[in-house]
Parts: sequence; structure tokens; C-alpha cells
Amino acid sequence: MSYLDKFKNITIKEDAIILGIETSCDETAVAIVKGGREILADEIISSATEHARFGGVVPEIASRGHTTAILTATENALKNANLTFDDIDAIAVTEGAGLLGALLVGVSFAKTLAFALNKPLIPVNHIRGHISASCLADKDLKPPFITILASGGHTCIVDVKDYYNMNILGSTIDDAVGEAFDKVARILGLNYPGGPNVERLAKLGENSIKLPKMLSHYEGCKYDFSYSGLKTAVINYVHTEEQKGNEVKKEDVACSFQTSAIEVLIEKALMAVKETGYKTITVSGGVGANGYLRQRLTEETTKLGLNLVLPEKRYCTDNGAMIASEGYLQYKNKKFADLTLNAKAVIPFK
Ligand SMILES: Nc1ncnc2c1ncn2[C@@H]1O[C@H](COP(=O)(O)OP(=O)(O)OP(=O)(O)O)[C@@H](O)[C@H]1O
Ligand SMILES: [Mg+2]
Repeated sequence: MSYLDKFKNITIKEDAIILGIETSCDETAVAIVKGGREILADEIISSATEHARFGGVVPEIASRGHTTAILTATENALKNANLTFDDIDAIAVTEGAGLLGALLVGVSFAKTLAFALNKPLIPVNHIRGHISASCLADKDLKPPFITILASGGHTCIVDVKDYYNMNILGSTIDDAVGEAFDKVARILGLNYPGGPNVERLAKLGENSIKLPKMLSHYEGCKYDFSYSGLKTAVINYVHTEEQKGNEVKKEDVACSFQTSAIEVLIEKALMAVKETGYKTITVSGGVGANGYLRQRLTEETTKLGLNLVLPEKRYCTDNGAMIASEGYLQYKNKKFADLTLNAKAVIPFK
């Protein structure tokens, strides 16, 4: 009997305990989640500080970080959950998208564990993982809902009809919103990762600089985004002011950029709930940790009587719990992989 055949007839448990492994970028994250929603342990060992002096993630440093951290993160997760490998029902791992060398560490580790322990192996799409982070925030959350997927590599408005049927209503046609935060941070001389640093500076400034409103009401692509033009407008503003010998109020640049970048996300998400008639909006991905986004969405959804699900900030950025939570949904459908599972740098998220 092949490795995969062993799991064809297993009994699916409602309260299955899934070990989730995430190594797509610079976080070595391992978590243990029960029934898809209850976090029993959640470990993150990040190599972010090692990348800071390069101004962005260096793939080889990230991969090396994973090789030294993955066993410790797993052992710590088991210890903190007071569990042993025997208690784990399945191993879920991010198969893509992400940095190939980084993903390979997680995938190889997960395959080895699954084979040695004789447990099912569940390949998880990183972006679906971000969306599933909302299940950790609201234990009663059920589709349909609209999610704002706003991360380092993605910006979309997604119609989650059910967990296995998602429709992307629109997405960025160039840069992702997180990428724009990171690039604007560089222009302003702020360290990597840029998003939280831009947010910190924006709190000190005012929305006083006129920046273009992106694809706001543009017919034909009403749910699409374009962040490249906004970033270029910020660069042009800073350079022009410097050339004129004017002092650049960096906090105002940060605040004006943040306002433009975030308001359009909110506007399109609200348009999507209006059109679909749904009552719930969730937030997915690293930019979901942004305080201005969280505050503005709270205001708007309260006004309209909508339900808003904001994952804790820690579960907006990359983590193992979201992979275990999404892994649970795949486990329920017996979407198991065999041992030929490979890492994928690019993968469609539907
Ligand atoms: N408080 C914040 N405000 C704005 N942006 C933020 C904040 N915190 C994190 N970010 C941004 O979120 C991004 C990281 O999020 P995430 O981990 O979801 O992205 P990723 O894993 O690199 O990309 P993807 O998930 O699309 O593959 C970075 O671009 C970072 O600057
Ligand atoms: Mg991510």
C-alpha cells in the first residue's frame, strides 16, 4: 500500500489536531490548532532582524534561518501545548507561494515528519492560509463573506462564497499594498519591514499632501487596485520638494500615503458587501495589522451594521496557526499529498 493510500479511509475527526508549518518567507512558524479554530501552541522564530540591514528579505539568509529554527520551533510548540507527536492527527505545510529555498525547508521537514509518524500530509496554499486566519479570530465565522486580502505580495477583494469556492472580484494590476508600504518606507529612510514603521510615522503627521486616488471608480475594473502609481507619486513628491530645497515633512508623507493606500481598500470592500448583500467583512494578510485600516473599517462597518472580523495582528502576518487552520479545512476534504509534494514559488490561490 502506498503512503497516500493509507489515509483514503481514515475517519475524519471534528476536533482533529493539526500541526501547521509555515516557511514561505523569513518566519519559521509552527503551530498546533484543534478543530481548525483553537490554538494550542504557536511558535514563530523570525530572521527579520538579519535582513534589516539589506533593506529587504535575502532569500539565502531566510532559508538558512529555517534550517536552524524549524526543529526548535516544532519542539517548543509540542512542549507548550503539552502534547507529543502521537497526539497530532495531520501535518499541514505551506507548499507555496513564496521563496523557493525557504519553502523547501518546511516542505522537506513536513514530509519527513509525516512519513516517520505515519500521518497524513496536507499541502496548504499560503494565501488561503491568510484568509483562514479569520477562523481563529471568530470561532463562529461562516461564509459567505468578503475578505480584504492585503499582504506583501497580494491585494484583492475576495468573495468567499464558501471555504472551497472563492471568487476574486478584483486585484492589484501592479504592486501589492504591502509592497508599496515597504517601498515608501525606503524612500522615507525607514527600516525593513516598512509597513509598521510607516504606520508609526503616520501617527505623527497629517493627511495634507494630495496624492492620486487609484482606480477609484474606474469602470470595468472597479474592484482592481494599482499601487505603483501611488508609490511613484510619493517618490516624485519627495524628490521635487528636495530639489526645491524645501523641508520634506516625512510624517505628513507617511500619513497621506497611508490614507490613500488604505481608504481605497475600504471603499472597494464596502462596495462588494453592498453588491453581494453579505453581512461580514474579514481582513487577511500583513497589512491587516495596520491600525488605521482597523480603525477605519471598524467605524464604517459599525455605521452600516456589518460584522467585522479582524484577526489579531500577530495572525495577520505570516504564522503557523493560519496554516494549521486552513490545513484543517483541507483535512476535512481529505486533500492529502503524497511524498512527491514539492515547494512551489508561484501557485494560484483559488
Ligand atoms: N502595521 C502595518 N501597516 C502596514 N503594512 C504592514 C503592517 N504590518 C505589516 N505590514 C506589511 O505586510 C507585509 C507582510 O505581510 P505578509 O506576511 O502577509 O506578506 P508576505 O507573506 O510577504 O506576502 P504574501 O502573503 O502575499 O505572500 C509587508 O509588506 C509589511 O510591510
Ligand atoms: Mg504572507
